[in-house]
Amino acid sequence: MRVFVTGATGFVGSAAVPELLAAGHDVVGLARSDAAAAALVATGATPLRGTLDDAESLRRGAATADGVLHLAIARGGVDFTDALETDRRALAVLGAALEGTGRPLVFASATSMIDHGRVITEHDVGDTSSPTSRGRDENAVLAWARRGVRVAVVRLPTLVHGDGDRHGFLPMLIEVARTNGFSAFVGDGHNRWPGVHRHDVARLLRLVLENAPAGSRAHAVADEEVAFRDIARAIGDGLGLPTTSIDAENTAEHFAHLGGSLALLPGADIPASGAATRKHYDWYPTGPDLLTDLRSGPYLPRVTVPEPPVDDRPHDQETGMQVHRSDSEPTTPAPEQTFTGNVTISGYFRRDDPSRLSGARVMFPPAARTPWKVNPAGQTIVVTGGAGRAQGEGEDIIELRAGDLAWFPPGQWHWEGAAPDQEMTCIVLHESTVEFGERVTDEQYRSPCRS
Ligand SMILES: NC(=O)c1ccc[n+]([C@@H]2O[C@H](COP(=O)([O-])OP(=O)(O)OC[C@H]3O[C@@H](n4cnc5c(N)ncnc54)[C@H](OP(=O)(O)O)[C@@H]3O)[C@@H](O)[C@H]2O)c1
Repeated sequence: MRVFVTGATGFVGSAAVPELLAAGHDVVGLARSDAAAAALVATGATPLRGTLDDAESLRRGAATADGVLHLAIARGGVDFTDALETDRRALAVLGAALEGTGRPLVFASATSMIDHGRVITEHDVGDTSSPTSRGRDENAVLAWARRGVRVAVVRLPTLVHGDGDRHGFLPMLIEVARTNGFSAFVGDGHNRWPGVHRHDVARLLRLVLENAPAGSRAHAVADEEVAFRDIARAIGDGLGLPTTSIDAENTAEHFAHLGGSLALLPGADIPASGAATRKHYDWYPTGPDLLTDLRSGPYLPRVTVPEPPVDDRPHDQETGMQVHRSDSEPTTPAPEQTFTGNVTISGYFRRDDPSRLSGARVMFPPAARTPWKVNPAGQTIVVTGGAGRAQGEGEDIIELRAGDLAWFPPGQWHWEGAAPDQEMTCIVLHESTVEFGERVTDEQYRSPCRS
């Protein structure tokens, strides 16, 4: 199929174009600048110079294609309504160019951003109750199905995430947290937002273009209902900032950077389901999921603990040994922004070649713990006193007792810490740097523990 793609150079479009090309389609992309044209040529697509306001270029692109994927969205207007007005005119031109041909016109819309307090599905008709909702355009574009266009709407969730995200909500929420010095959620933060990785969106857009019945709606939703509090916490932890609740009446002021009425969205409950779409298109998102991408993807700085200097303290002249007496080692606090509780570290060491071993003694007061962390070469823990807890990602929490030796395999996210009512002392040993992720929440820490 020769596919005309608007917005081919955008965040979603730059994933959709390679997806279409890899499936054997030819792509003609609307390009409004030399840079956009060059980017399209570099991916193997053919640029067609024009803009969303230029009806002639849109008409030519659509009329000479076997199908149209409309992803372009104008930016920079006030409160998104200018962008929607431009979009409306462009859709009318694209629909008219395909009238009576039976060819597909796929329109990327958005799941509802109106707080209905329930999960929106593919069966919900486009919401027209707000000037910034895309429902009016969905309904208008779907009407082309009665005029011989195989038109389909794909609703993208509020949080499309992945590499190259410059204008989406996640970079904006991160910026808001940085500016305010803390990451916020509204009230109890249980309101839900949906999400999907952009490569999963790209695959669904192709499937819809190839197979959608005329007049149908699909939801590119992978994570249907992520609590906003968890999103805020991942951002706070990633930036090393506290995460706190704000009152509903302060939402617009705190999130003003999101622009106009969108500043109220962090308090909205806007979950969406993709169940019918998964079933119809046999489309199963492969992720990563939203919180994993936030925690260890391209959005936030990663905290990698620097390797300590190689230990060059003098060796005993007679025995050749180096002995670090526990009572003569300085004790330092663990980084507060990631560890929970007053964890202290002493005897940090790193051996020289041919050894790669490094480690330290760690003392956890009751309920204190590390953040989630990962060691590329794995980590060993020798429990020297008290009682503790440890957990590998996706596994149960297990109890640790004095004398136990625990091993986390390379690449496994995990944490360790003290029991709720006892301290734990241990020696940690590893052969690589450590990468720190999110703080271990109270809820995670209090999950059932097996002995
Ligand atoms: N990203 C999300 O989280 C998300 C969520 C829900 C819905 N959506 C919807 O999905 C669609 C794609 O979003 P996106 O994130 O890929 O947007 P994006 O990254 O902002 O990309 C916008 C695209 O539109 C092009 N464009 C903008 N104004 C134009 C104009 N006047 N004439 C011609 N082209 C123009 C841009 O070209 P340049 O490269 O030249 O700037 C770019 O290719 C949009 O309809 C958006 O509303 C996105």
